[in-house]
Amino acid sequence: MDPVVVHAVPTPWQVLGCGNYAAVLVHPHFSDIVVKVYAPGRPGRPEEVEVYNRLGQHHSFSQCLGFGENYLILKRWFGVTLYDCVHRGIPIPNKVIQDIDDALEYARARGLNPHDVHGRNIMVVDGRGVVVDVSDFLVDEDCGAWEDLKNAYNWFYRPFILPLGIKIPHAVLNLVRSSYRQSRRVRSWAKRK
Ligand SMILES: Nc1ncnc2c1ncn2[C@@H]1O[C@H](COP(=O)(O)OP(=O)(O)OP(=O)(O)O)[C@@H](O)[C@H]1O
Ligand SMILES: [Mg+2]
Repeated sequence: MDPVVVHAVPTPWQVLGCGNYAAVLVHPHFSDIVVKVYAPGRPGRPEEVEVYNRLGQHHSFSQCLGFGENYLILKRWFGVTLYDCVHRGIPIPNKVIQDIDDALEYARARGLNPHDVHGRNIMVVDGRGVVVDVSDFLVDEDCGAWEDLKNAYNWFYRPFILPLGIKIPHAVLNLVRSSYRQSRRVRSWAKRK
């Protein structure tokens, strides 16, 4: 699926980020909340509300404060995605990885199945890890995204990128991400055989 593209937003709304399903907007007069607008024809809005209901309040997850047919109102995180940290050379402490492990364990204890936990769905907020996107946590299917990300962190990021303070261009990050995705597809296909 291609990422959502925003062609225009009414003044003074601003786009905070886009994924494969939705665009996330903020209004400067209400800067501690965001509106996640699902693009026409892209599924998942009701499921995401259900996931937030099951999660309740937890320091590593946002909260759903309201919703409409194609949008959710969420608590805003003031942070930087892991993807942008690596791109901008902002150090990602090991604590962030532990926080996400704990958060996903909490989600599992609530009967959810953490899914699609990748570098754009995690943010560093004041040195702590938070999960910004829980939309696929009801998907009943294994997903190795988080384990792949942790391996990349431990074997590649921590020994090489972090000490050298290297900034990785978007093109390289996208290439790494798509090759991991491809390898996950092959692995799950091989598992089903
Ligand atoms: N609560 C939030 N506070 C601040 N920024 C946010 C928040 N939620 C999302 N974002 C930003 O918007 C981007 C897109 O949001 P999100 O990941 O929820 O969309 P999606 O279409 O469901 O993504 P995916 O393709 O991973 O399913 C995120 O990567 C992040 O940069
Ligand atoms: Mg996302």
